[in-house]
Amino acid sequence: MSEGAARLATRRAYVERRRVPRVSRVSVYVSRIVRGKVKDMAIDSIRLSINRTDYELSIGRRFGQIPPNETLVETLRERFALTGAKRSCNEGACGCCTVIIDGEAVPACMTLTVDCDGSSITTIEGLQDPRTGELDPIQQAFIDEYAFQCGYCTPGIIMVVKALLDKNPAPDEDEVAEALAGNFCRCISQYHVFNAVDRLVGRVTSGGLIAEGDVKVGKAGGR
Ligand code: FES
Ligand code: FES
Repeated sequence: MSEGAARLATRRAYVERRRVPRVSRVSVYVSRIVRGKVKDMAIDSIRLSINRTDYELSIGRRFGQIPPNETLVETLRERFALTGAKRSCNEGACGCCTVIIDGEAVPACMTLTVDCDGSSITTIEGLQDPRTGELDPIQQAFIDEYAFQCGYCTPGIIMVVKALLDKNPAPDEDEVAEALAGNFCRCISQYHVFNAVDRLVGRVTSGGLIAEGDVKVGKAGGR
């Protein structure tokens, strides 16, 4: 074989090794269908309301987007600087991360942000009147009854109490205890928490019976 023919044979062999298999028309068609389905099923963005302000969030893994596996407590704390919801156990056992979603008190550590599409979310920061700065009556009752010590669990407990009072303005003690069963306080301030709820529903306080009109029963934070 001449030198030129040998070079040509070597080049052909190289090209053959590098050749990408041709894709048949059928497989292209199928892959287009599959890509189309995947695109249809994928969520590009979600809309949600946080403390009465509407947001549209992009979903994805690029910088600034919300990854599909991001939890709501991460989104609230790290993207919105709403650090009232505390991340503690991170497995739904302590209630420190509780927020209200569409009227229900839920642990934000167990909620994916993508699942909140179309939801209305309220955090402890959303209870204060944004115009006057006035505290929600529940927050005020907790202060008046010293219903916290370190305060780490307090936002979660207050959000549970708010969800409860919005639905039931006059819960009895068993109903309060049941609602708060998922909230743990390491500082043992539960006794004072019950006093605060008693104050809100017009039972007794550490200072004795509350005069009628002294409390805002049923409108506890209900703006
Ligand atoms: S941090 Fe969410 S329940 Fe404990
Ligand atoms: S006040 Fe400290 S954990 Fe509850």
